[in-house]
Amino acid sequence: MCGIIGYVGKRNAIPVLINGLKRLEYRGYDSAGIAFLNDNKITVRRCAGKIRDLENSIKGERLRSFIGLGHTRWATHGRPSEENAHPHRAGGIVLVHNGIIENYFELKEDLKKKGHVFTSETDTEVICHLIYSFSQKGLSFEDATREALKHVEGAYAIGVINEREPDRMLAVKKDSPLVLGLGEGEFFIASDIPAFLKYTRDVIIPENGELAVITDKGVSISGLISKKPVRKQTTRITWSPAMAEKGGYRHFMLKEIYEQPRAISDTIRGRFFPEKGVVNLEEFSLRAGDLKKVNKIFLVACGTSWHAALIGKYMIEDMARVPCEVDIASEFRYRRPIVPEDSLVIVITQSGETADTIAAQREAQKLGARVLSICNVVGSTSAREADSVFYTHSGPEIGVASTKAFTTQLTGLYLFSIALAKAKGALKSGEIKELFSELLQLPEKVEKALRINNAVLKVARKFYHARDFLYLGRGINYPIALEGALKLKEISYIHAEGYPAGEMKHGPIALIDNNMPVLALAPDDKVFEKILSNMEEVNSRGGKVIAVATEGAAKALVRASHALFLPKTNYYLTPVIFSIPLHLLAYHMAVLRKCNVDQPRNLAKSVTVE
Ligand code: AGP
Repeated sequence: MCGIIGYVGKRNAIPVLINGLKRLEYRGYDSAGIAFLNDNKITVRRCAGKIRDLENSIKGERLRSFIGLGHTRWATHGRPSEENAHPHRAGGIVLVHNGIIENYFELKEDLKKKGHVFTSETDTEVICHLIYSFSQKGLSFEDATREALKHVEGAYAIGVINEREPDRMLAVKKDSPLVLGLGEGEFFIASDIPAFLKYTRDVIIPENGELAVITDKGVSISGLISKKPVRKQTTRITWSPAMAEKGGYRHFMLKEIYEQPRAISDTIRGRFFPEKGVVNLEEFSLRAGDLKKVNKIFLVACGTSWHAALIGKYMIEDMARVPCEVDIASEFRYRRPIVPEDSLVIVITQSGETADTIAAQREAQKLGARVLSICNVVGSTSAREADSVFYTHSGPEIGVASTKAFTTQLTGLYLFSIALAKAKGALKSGEIKELFSELLQLPEKVEKALRINNAVLKVARKFYHARDFLYLGRGINYPIALEGALKLKEISYIHAEGYPAGEMKHGPIALIDNNMPVLALAPDDKVFEKILSNMEEVNSRGGKVIAVATEGAAKALVRASHALFLPKTNYYLTPVIFSIPLHLLAYHMAVLRKCNVDQPRNLAKSVTVE
C-alpha cells in the first residue's frame, strides 16, 4: 500500500506534493520521491527514508513547476532504497504507482530482450518502460498508456507525466484506490483524499478501467479500452483532515479491520495459480525441492503473530502431515531447542523488528536451521536476515492492535501449507483446487462478515462494564479464543482469558457466574456439538454466553444469550472469518470505555526491546 499524489495547476507544485505526501505517510513510509516538469524536462528527486528526508534533501533549492507527481512507498517488490523509490522513469515517461503488478517478471524479461535497461527491482518500473516503448512507436501519450496497460495484470493506481506532452497528466485505476481533486484552476490525483483536502473538498472517484486526463483546464475521463467519455459525479467531502487520514473511520484500528478484504486480496494476488493447482513458490523464495526435504517445522512468534503460528500448526499438520512445534519467541530463544537438520523454522512478525523474534530467528540459524520469515515490512531485520521471506501485503498497520496483518499472516500460512502438502504428496490436485477456490472467495466472505458490526456493537453495549471475560474455542479456533482475549485486554484493559473449551471442567468452570461473560466460538465443524455442551455448562451455572457461529446454526442460538452469525468457509480459513467479530468487539468495548484505541496505555506497535 503506497501513497501517490499528482498536481496540475497555477500553484508551485513542489510544496503541494510534499504536503500531500505527508498526509499520505500512513500509507507507507520507507522511501519517497517527487517528479516535476519544466521546459519539457522532468526532474526526479527521491530518497530512502521518510518524507522529511526527501524534504530536507531539496531544502534551499528554488524548485518551481506547475505539474508534478509524488510518491511515498510501502515496499512490496524491492527493498527500501533510493533506486527503488518512485517516481520511476523510462525516457521522457515518469510514473508513480500504488498496487502490485502480477506479471511484472515476464514483462520485464521481454522488455530486457528488446534492449530496455532497468535501474530498480520494482514491479512499477515495468509500466514506465511499456508506455515508453509504445510512445517510441509513434503513439500519443494517451494511446501509449492505454496500449501498455492492456499487457499489465494486477492492481494499479498510476499517475504519469511525459516530457513530450508537458501540459497533461494521466491517471488510471484498477483495483487500487485513486481519487481526483477539483480545485479552482488546479487539479489533483491521489491515493486518498487527505492528500489534497487542504486545497479542495470536491472529488471525483474514478472506477476500475477508467483513464483520466488532467490539464490546468480540467479533468476528462474515458474508458481505458473503449475510449468512450465517462461523465462523473462530483462529491463534496465534509471530513476534517485527521478524519480523512483514517478514511472517515474514527480510529486506524477500525479502518484496518475494514481494509482486510483488500489486504487479503493484495496478499494472495499472484501467489498461486488455480488452474495449475500450484502455489507460486518464488513469492516464498523457496524451491519445491527444499520443501520436500522438510520433516519438521517450528513456528515462532510473539503476541498476535504467535496466535497465527498456533493456527499455522493446525493447517500444516492437517494438510501436509509434517510435525510442527509452536513457540513463543522469548521461550524458544532460551530453551535450548532441539532443531533436527531437516527442519524449517518459520518466524511470523508484522513489524519484522520484534526483539525476541529476531533473537529466536538468529538462534535457529545458529542451530543450522533454514528460516522463513512471514513479515509485513520489506527490508525489516527479520526479512533481511531470513533465508526465505513471504511478505504479507496488508500495508502499514498503524493501530497497535494487529488486525489486517494477522489475517494476512493466516493467508500466507494457508498457502505455505498447501505448497508443503503438494511437495509431500499429501494432497490430491482436486483437494488443492478446492482449497484455492475457497481462498479466492475469502475477501468477499470477509466483506460479508464485516456486516456483523452493528450486532457486535449491541453486544459490546451489554458487556463493556465487565471486569472479566472468558473466550472458548476448539481445534483450529482455540487460538482465535486467545486472540479475542488478547485484543480485549490490550485495548479495553478488561481482564480476559482464552481457553480451549475442552478444558472447562479442568478448572475454568469454577469461574462461571453471572459476572463472567463467556464468548464461545462455535463454527459448524466436527466439534460443534462439543462446544454446544460447553455453552450448556455455562448456562446451567448462571453464566451468559455470547455465541459466535456459522450462519444457519440455529442451535447456537438456543444456548446463548447473544449469537453472532458468520459466513461459512472451510475449516482452515474459519479463523480468518471468526477473528472479525472478536476484533470488532474489543474495538467497541474499548471505545465505550473511552480507551485510547490506536495507542493503548503501556503498549508499543513494535516491541523492539526484550
Ligand atoms: C497484537 O495486537 C499486539 N500488538 C502484539 O501482541 C503483537 O502481535 C506482537 O508484539 C508481535 O508483533 P510483531 O508481529 O510485529 O512481531
